[in-house]
Amino acid sequence: MKNRFIAAAAMPAALVGAVNNGLARTPQMGWNNWNTFACDVSEKLLLETSKLLGDYGLKDLGYQYVVLDDCWSTGRGDDGYLVPDTAKFPEGMGAVADKLHKEGFLFGMYSSAGEMTCARYAGSLDYETQDAESFASWGVDYLKYDNCYHMGRMGTPLISFNRYNEMAKALKKTGRSILYSLCSWGEDYVHTWGGSIANSWRISGDIYDSFARPDDLCACNNAADPACVAPGTHCSVLAIINKVATFVDRGLPGAWNDLDMLEVGLGGMTEEEYKAHFAMWAALKSPLLLGNDLRKMDATTLSIINNPAIIAVSQDPKGRSAIRISRNLEAPIDEHGVGETQVWSGALANGDQVVIFLNAADEDVDMSATLSELFVMHGPGGSAPHVKQDWTVRDLWGNEGARMSKGVAQAVLDATSEGERNGILKRENWYNATATPYAEGLEQGDARLLGERVGTVKAGGRLEARVPRHAAKVFRLQSASGKTGTAKSSLKDEL
Ligand SMILES: *[C@@H]1O[C@H](CO)[C@@H](O)[C@H](O)[C@H]1NC(C)=O
Repeated sequence: MKNRFIAAAAMPAALVGAVNNGLARTPQMGWNNWNTFACDVSEKLLLETSKLLGDYGLKDLGYQYVVLDDCWSTGRGDDGYLVPDTAKFPEGMGAVADKLHKEGFLFGMYSSAGEMTCARYAGSLDYETQDAESFASWGVDYLKYDNCYHMGRMGTPLISFNRYNEMAKALKKTGRSILYSLCSWGEDYVHTWGGSIANSWRISGDIYDSFARPDDLCACNNAADPACVAPGTHCSVLAIINKVATFVDRGLPGAWNDLDMLEVGLGGMTEEEYKAHFAMWAALKSPLLLGNDLRKMDATTLSIINNPAIIAVSQDPKGRSAIRISRNLEAPIDEHGVGETQVWSGALANGDQVVIFLNAADEDVDMSATLSELFVMHGPGGSAPHVKQDWTVRDLWGNEGARMSKGVAQAVLDATSEGERNGILKRENWYNATATPYAEGLEQGDARLLGERVGTVKAGGRLEARVPRHAAKVFRLQSASGKTGTAKSSLKDEL
């Protein structure tokens, strides 16, 4: 049993990311301050946030990286090394790392492959060696490396690669394991070369807190569009999904497409939109970096970001993105001219299949897909053996075995002591990935990772669901005619 799963998780040698630093074998999870706080950073903010990540059980669901974004330095000293801003970080950065490590977190920092960072602080271009040395000496575990003020050193994949590779080499030379996260906004086909030097790479301009509203500042929402030159900012969830759709398969264990940090809990989307945003980021194997203020979190937000059945899709040991198997552009459009539906499907390590019906149309839609369509990656025209089996359908947002009720989430938030909080999480039997890693929980068939059973699809049949406007239905399909058979056939495909 164990061997089967180890084999399923192993990648053929040729596909292993050449960065090969052993990190991010599943997409990294954590929190980054930028989406809520921008430049308003301090040691206090990072430590208060990490405390809450621990208290709310989020660290034990996998959110381990606490990532500081821009605006932390006062510039470069005479010795050529960056100087932390002691008004914000009184004891320097090493002290922050030590305190986070003591609580079981990993510490991320930020710089730019440019003369300046995006907020016009000193950047690392041509100072890669010094800055990597600083990060390593402080005990940093993660570097988000931005693209502002690149001094024109872009325009071809090789020019961008060379600029980002300088930091990759400098980090490697320090001997410290540092997750390397490129933020080059999808420029110069970074998805084709990012995996050779980094653990993740941003594929678009910055996300903003909108599900589908187009914005001229996000010029680049379709990689095939010749107008897609400047990546920009204000990219909606739908724009980012549509940009990555053509190359989602570039994500592999150790090397992921980064769809940008999460907006869940910031207030600009509905609950259904945030659920769809979170589930798509999980199924497309983006890093899951929370971006909300944990000190002001509501129960709805907590019960979205702590859904272990969705996170188990992100952290599935197979490490492959779902793919888009159909897109309907004839769906009812809104006042911005936006309206479409999409079906996504992806193989999981234990032979299950994740299926997402994404409704970005302007009204509720009855959506469906045949087994033949859903398993097209295993054989065209209904030839996949999977089509000839019955499938149990589980809803990953169902209340049984997936999402926490809002009442319980509110009780977790309201608890006044650590003991009380842990008591609630324990009574609810909430999933703890520190105790049982997702790969192990999935191998054991842990019901908390599998979602609520809602029906079956017969061999040769069709999965159907009514999907509310701006929402996603997220299903896990499990073979009803003997899991082993299915797992074997998908394993054969892989090996
Ligand atoms: C999760 O499990 C770890 C390891 O067993 C334990 O230290 C931690 O307290 C648990 N977390 C919660 C929220 O119960």
